[in-house]
Amino acid sequence: MDMDKVDQIIDKHNCEASSLIQVLLDIQGANNWLPKEALDRVAERLQVPLTRIQHIATFYKAFSVVPKGRHGVHICLGTACHVRGASRILDTVQDITGLNPGETDLDLKFSLETVNCLGCCALGPVMEVDGKVYGKMAPAKIADALKNYD
Ligand code: FES
Repeated sequence: MDMDKVDQIIDKHNCEASSLIQVLLDIQGANNWLPKEALDRVAERLQVPLTRIQHIATFYKAFSVVPKGRHGVHICLGTACHVRGASRILDTVQDITGLNPGETDLDLKFSLETVNCLGCCALGPVMEVDGKVYGKMAPAKIADALKNYD
């Protein structure tokens, strides 16, 4: 990650230790994950111990300390989606991307996760990519949907 960008984010928050979480959220938003060198820079400039930053970065689900793909794919395995064939949706996404849940591909294109409910059960089975919901999903429609992302 470009350290100038990290510095800009820190400057935007006036280098305040009290803005630590907001600084981390902005870095996460700009880069999709929190690289070690970015955390080192935040620790140094905000004068916050690195151990405290690491604790926050690994505790909150909003943060990732490992590389994430440019596109987050979520497959719902909640009850309503499960009874409508969610496992076949997951199998097909796994076949197409080569990923297991929790993994990111080497091109950092997709990160695949399973979730327990996306709050739109009537549309099940549901796949969500970058916040866009694909409802009433069928295995045959998945390749076409994923083609829209690069
Ligand atoms: S169970 Fe899948 S959206 Fe609710």
